[in-house]
Amino acid sequence: MNQSNRIGIMAAMPEELQALLDRMVDDTPVTLGGRTFWCGQLQGVEVVVVLSGIGKVAAAITTTLLLQAFEVNELWFTGVAGGLAPQVQVGDVVVADALVQHDMDASPLFARHELPGLGLSHLQAPAALIDEVVGVVAQAQPQPVHRGLVLSGDQFVASAGQVAELVQRLPGALAVEMEGAAVAQVCHAFDRPCVIVRTISDRADEAAPQDFGRFIAEVASPRSMAIVMALLSARSKR
Ligand code: ADE
Repeated sequence: MNQSNRIGIMAAMPEELQALLDRMVDDTPVTLGGRTFWCGQLQGVEVVVVLSGIGKVAAAITTTLLLQAFEVNELWFTGVAGGLAPQVQVGDVVVADALVQHDMDASPLFARHELPGLGLSHLQAPAALIDEVVGVVAQAQPQPVHRGLVLSGDQFVASAGQVAELVQRLPGALAVEMEGAAVAQVCHAFDRPCVIVRTISDRADEAAPQDFGRFIAEVASPRSMAIVMALLSARSKR
């Protein structure tokens, strides 16, 4: 149905959104569903930029509107996450090649984490797209870039005990955040690709609230900016 080249860019934080708006051309605001969608161009690419909202439902609403009302063909999400795997440190970047809603539990009716009706728990991102994104992000900035499983749930994880339990329950998980798997579920429903790129702001431990706050204030938005700009520049050269 929808064959536009428009890319939807969801930012998690107002600071990240503003950094993108500062560079947008012809940006026109459209308000829908209590959100402001900014339509215009970034680096010559047609984009719709919007704040995702926090949590799975807010992000799912925003994603649905981007796909249906703004007819974006592909969706990118930039934001921060808590690191779960030991090799994933603050400042590193994680590109999700699969996403799971760690708080989905309709057992015993369905297996734990299974999305009822879909018969799966892991939402896989298209491998070729993730290859491209990992390559571009690794070129654009010096920090380590990891590719793997990202968990999402309506919970800010802030204890080493919770981290251990999540990693035991969902082995291989690299990072945890609050929106990505919901975005992926909506994109799956509409058969559209999505890319979830997260910079690690904290280690989801007891220090997470302070680390998160500091990272948002100092690092998150220039980092997201650099990632989005590198991706757009790769796209405009295609
Ligand atoms: N986003 C960034 N850090 C997070 C954490 N510790 N838990 C959930 N979402 C996050």
